[in-house]
Amino acid sequence: MKNSSTGRRASRSNSALQFVRTLAALDERRRRNKIVGYEPYPKQKEFHAAGAGHRERLFMAGNQLGKTVAGGFECAMHLTGRYPGWWTGRRYDRAVRLWAASVTGESTRDNPQRILLGPPAIRDQWGTGAIPGDAIVNTALGRNLADAVDNIVVQHAGGGLSVLAFKAYGMGREKWQGETLDGVWFDEEPPLDIYMEGLTRTNATGGFTMVTFTPLLGVSGVVRLFLDAGHGLSA
Ligand SMILES: Nc1ncnc2c1ncn2[C@@H]1O[C@H](COP(=O)(O)OP(=O)(O)OP(=O)(O)O)[C@@H](O)[C@H]1O
Ligand SMILES: [Mg+2]
Repeated sequence: MKNSSTGRRASRSNSALQFVRTLAALDERRRRNKIVGYEPYPKQKEFHAAGAGHRERLFMAGNQLGKTVAGGFECAMHLTGRYPGWWTGRRYDRAVRLWAASVTGESTRDNPQRILLGPPAIRDQWGTGAIPGDAIVNTALGRNLADAVDNIVVQHAGGGLSVLAFKAYGMGREKWQGETLDGVWFDEEPPLDIYMEGLTRTNATGGFTMVTFTPLLGVSGVVRLFLDAGHGLSA
């Protein structure tokens, strides 16, 4: 009698433990597959949708309205080819080459890199950003700044490996010359010459540029370019 009730208690606590382990595993899988849970706000959705018909896009909005998140998740989708059911934007059925950039090495690491990969200083959590952990094939560290990544290699669902490299406007225009790209994401406002170099990198592929920022510099060269063309999206 005593033995069988002890046995029942042990088996109950085993299945409770199993249940907790299963929940923890599901939670970890969700944490490493955020692309599936991304639900854009209306302005973010409009920004993504505009990519189907426009090569150049500007998402100009106030602080903390989801500009970096929108840029990051869209890059993650192109890198992996994993587009959600609601997606109406630009689509790639093959591996892509992208650049993501901000003003300095630090701001690139702390914004685009953090959104795409996870917290820069916590290696265990790389793979918990917008790019699903299971799609990341390699992350190459940069040489000049702690925890800054130079590039990420990503498995594309259509076969082949995508590459996203991180850049900074402060590197100067010469460092922006050379490569042919499918897209460039500028998180924060680039100087006009850097923007034009980035755009030029995408000409051969008919690729895209995305600019996401809060206007701090007034109507600068890049803002004027978009406002004159009537292509900007502001919130
Ligand atoms: N679609 C979304 N669903 C849920 N949360 C979101 C969404 N978009 C953004 N957020 C949350 O809003 C906050 C701000 O997002 P984000 O960093 O992209 O804003 P930002 O406009 O780039 O801000 P900043 O002006 O500081 O650069 C973050 O906590 C982010 O997780
Ligand atoms: Mg931001």
